[in-house]
Amino acid sequence: MLKRTVTCGELTAEDTGKKIVLNGWVNKRRDLGGLIFFDLRDRYGLTQVVCDPEKGKSLMNIAHKLSAEDVVAVRGYVRLRPDDAINNDMPTGKIEVLAEEIEILNPAATLPFLVTDRETGLEDLRLKYRYLELRTAEIQKCLAIRHHAAQSVRSFYSKNGFFEIETPMLMKSTPEGARDYLVPSRIYKGRFYALPQSPQTYKQLLMIGGFDRYFQIVKCFRDEDLRADRQPEFTQIDVEMSFIDEDDIMENTETMLCRVFQDVINVELPRPFPRMEYSDAMRRFGSDKPDIRFGVEIHTLNTFLQNCGFRVFQSVIDSGGSVAAICVPGGAGFSRKIIDELTEQIKGWGAKGLAFVKITENGLESGVSKFLNSVEKEIVQTVGGKPGDIILFVADESRVTYPALGRLRLTVAKRLDLIPKRQFKPLWVTRFPLLEYDEEEKRYVAMHHPFTSAIPEDRAKLKTDPGAVIARAYDIVINGNEIGGGSIRNHTPEMQQEMFDVLGISREEARAKFGFLLDALTFGAPPHGGIALGFDRLVMLLAGTENIRDVIAFPKTTSAASLMDGSPTPVSGDQLKELGIKIV
Ligand code: AMO
Ligand code: AMP
Repeated sequence: MLKRTVTCGELTAEDTGKKIVLNGWVNKRRDLGGLIFFDLRDRYGLTQVVCDPEKGKSLMNIAHKLSAEDVVAVRGYVRLRPDDAINNDMPTGKIEVLAEEIEILNPAATLPFLVTDRETGLEDLRLKYRYLELRTAEIQKCLAIRHHAAQSVRSFYSKNGFFEIETPMLMKSTPEGARDYLVPSRIYKGRFYALPQSPQTYKQLLMIGGFDRYFQIVKCFRDEDLRADRQPEFTQIDVEMSFIDEDDIMENTETMLCRVFQDVINVELPRPFPRMEYSDAMRRFGSDKPDIRFGVEIHTLNTFLQNCGFRVFQSVIDSGGSVAAICVPGGAGFSRKIIDELTEQIKGWGAKGLAFVKITENGLESGVSKFLNSVEKEIVQTVGGKPGDIILFVADESRVTYPALGRLRLTVAKRLDLIPKRQFKPLWVTRFPLLEYDEEEKRYVAMHHPFTSAIPEDRAKLKTDPGAVIARAYDIVINGNEIGGGSIRNHTPEMQQEMFDVLGISREEARAKFGFLLDALTFGAPPHGGIALGFDRLVMLLAGTENIRDVIAFPKTTSAASLMDGSPTPVSGDQLKELGIKIV
């Protein structure tokens, strides 16, 4: 085999005249009256190769046979392209290689889609032939970014005294938020390991073990409903520290994120990251992960609309609900059809309807505007409206009004292109409620996880008013994506027990499930806390993609299947027998 002396991405005008060997894939072939051109591709780039009949018949015979994705070796020399063929967009665009010998190392079969244009295959087909999609420029770029990000993260933490410590993949099933993936034990029939939903308990035990600064880039597994930014197995940057408070974790995480954005995409994040309390995020943005790249904030209008006479608003206010609105710049141009579409959408999110008012040079315009006459000025002023805008109102229970307007805000902003691209706006969301009431289970559940502590001044409320207790928890949000979350933990057995109590976990159950942790907390556990960042989501932002599968080499579909190897698959009867398992 002709072994490469250079890659396909490195030859420049300075190499003119050099004799070289390239190895790579045939990207595209063009026959131009006698001459044959093709681009040879590897992960470093593309180099144009020219086959000239003057170099002999046997060379041309091979060149004629070449098709897309054949693996070939080319021996030849570097020459400058004629002026009219120079491509300044390519690093190798000034040169080409005049071939003297071509060796086909392995011809490729007919391809299911074009590697030069992945849109020629639907995503399912691309996932089936994922190794071909890995050759595309898009995925090559995403995985390069992922690699650089991982190196940057490791180097940051190592330089700052953190140890990367691996934690078990086979662990005790301890229900956290999602369902566990279970692994049957052959030795102990009828017993199961679980794959970690996160290394949460282990990292706390590492703190108790004295490793006061820990991090790990680690796989986590959750059997939950998937979405565009969720995979059943995903990667976290997991961090835990001892003898610290919220500010230390936030400060440290900010520095890490700034380093990574700088190293990987040369972007300087604005510091310090702003902070917003959960209750404000919900009230102003209808979301616990506000996208603050644009305004269009939610305004509560109850005080103005108390006596407006509009039945819908009136009755909601009377029964303790909220009437709130967003003002959409340029939205006065929305047609009836668009407004109907938005109304249908918002009904899908649980709201009963959508009222609107267009602001024109001559005042307000719409069916409901007559009810607003007396408070028109105040409303327009409060929402910051100007002629050309539309005000969209939702009246409902607060737990419906704000999230619905929050989603509507994102929808209309996308529609009107109000969201600046390639801009990064990080935000800390703080002071989350510790608990939320689960209507189905008729009990409180942890909003973050059961190891999160309450702010000290609220600890007493755990027994009297659990729903009002504020957690020492924080989320890092970038451009409306929840990139990470963490908390200061319960580090005494009493604090942890109080939490289990309010969650309705009996003493026996707590012992059975978390006895090892409760014990460990009795032996001198340091105050500690940490955070975990969704590494895949972080790479999505760095790479500018909205599809989490773009940043994972071998991803699963949204129904948790691997289309390439067909997993999950049935297993043999013998395998099941060995495990003592019967499928029902
Ligand atoms: P949490 O459950 O919030 O916290 O997870 C941390 C971050 O992981 C990312 N993430 C996911 N990414 C892709 N696919 C998924 N299915 C998925 N689920 C979560 C999110 C999320 O913010 N142990 C705690 C952290 C701590 O308290 O230190 C934990 O796992 O970006
Ligand atoms: P109705 O009087 O029910 O026909 O409603 C008049 C207008 O108010 C229509 O545009 C409805 O879409 C809108 N509307 C109805 N219910 C609500 C609600 N809960 N919040 C906001 N607007 C609503």
